[in-house]
Amino acid sequence: MKLPDIKILDEKHKILRTTSKEVEFPLSNDDKKIIQDIITYLTMSQIEKYYTKYDLRPGMGMAFIQLGIPKNIFVIVEEIDEEKFKNYVIINPKMVSHSEELIYVGEGEGCLSVNREVEGIVPRYARMTISYQDMDGKKQEIRVREDISVAFQHEMDHLNGILFVDKIDKKDPFKNKDKMREI
Ligand code: NI
Repeated sequence: MKLPDIKILDEKHKILRTTSKEVEFPLSNDDKKIIQDIITYLTMSQIEKYYTKYDLRPGMGMAFIQLGIPKNIFVIVEEIDEEKFKNYVIINPKMVSHSEELIYVGEGEGCLSVNREVEGIVPRYARMTISYQDMDGKKQEIRVREDISVAFQHEMDHLNGILFVDKIDKKDPFKNKDKMREI
């Protein structure tokens, strides 16, 4: 695999704070290429041989805005088995419903745009259903749970200009810990 030539913006870039826009179909060839590049990058970042060779930080999700492109598109690459991956390409997502139950990632969330250690709880819905469009513009619905639900919410926040660090109470980073389930 060849490492794609993409530049992930760090949190100091103000464009990460903008709200991304609805995508129209058909997708441009540029957008299709960027989606493919993101899939390749996220996949390689989760394979030891590549993350060692290229000094990559492992990541499972990326939104277009992290490359400076304010479009409602994100990609998630989930490792479902030893170096076997499932890709989600999500365009124009909308929340349909979500659980009342909240969860948080015990070891903390990470983001390829946040290059520092951040402690604290980011409350997320344990399960949710979203509608979105696939790469052909077809309407789809997906129900996600647990870590994938967290990943989807993290990426949907990016489309609204929100980073996970914004959701941590600065004065009390572990606030309401008892009201949520750790995953
Ligand atoms: Ni992120």
